[in-house]
Amino acid sequence: MLKIAVLVSGGGTNLQAIMDANIPGVKIELVVSNNANAYALTRAKNAGIKALCISPKQYERRELFHEALLACLKENDIALVVLAGYLVNISEQMVREYKNRIINIHPSLIPSFCGKGYYGLKVHEAALARGVKVTGATVHFVDEGTDTGPIILQKAVEVKAGDTPEILQRRVMEEAEWKILPQAIAMIANGGI
Ligand code: GRF
Repeated sequence: MLKIAVLVSGGGTNLQAIMDANIPGVKIELVVSNNANAYALTRAKNAGIKALCISPKQYERRELFHEALLACLKENDIALVVLAGYLVNISEQMVREYKNRIINIHPSLIPSFCGKGYYGLKVHEAALARGVKVTGATVHFVDEGTDTGPIILQKAVEVKAGDTPEILQRRVMEEAEWKILPQAIAMIANGGI
């Protein structure tokens, strides 16, 4: 059984997609948010999944936060860390200790509209401002950079006339994110990558 931890900061629709997928051979052991009010934590609790808030605000120094998060993953025998709308930077030590065992979902077709400052609605605002006709989502391994790790899966989504950032974000989530993130986890669980 592949024990995964899902790290979240917001509404948790990607977490919900993983939960609903009921991926064979995968157990969502833990959900961790830096935001005590993240609805994603409610989703986890409602499903009987261990849900914790581990926030930099709870620690005097950032490195103490990083240590606490890493210790929590080890205590729970986590084999794969899934960043699902998680907005806190991962420590170099965690990237090193979980090399090729941390994946992230990004709401664009990397290398477009990614890197520092590109998250949430900002990604879709940039895509609309550039006038792209196709955007989408990417699941990639996390390395020491921002959105720079090896790409696992991508799925394209059409940009439509009149799209607002909110409408486009929703379409990218529905048609791409919520499909490829569970798919990537299943591939890893089945030894496909
Ligand atoms: C959304 O902007 C999504 O595109 C990105 O993270 C944000 C929150 O998603 N992946 P979620 O609803 O918390 O999963």
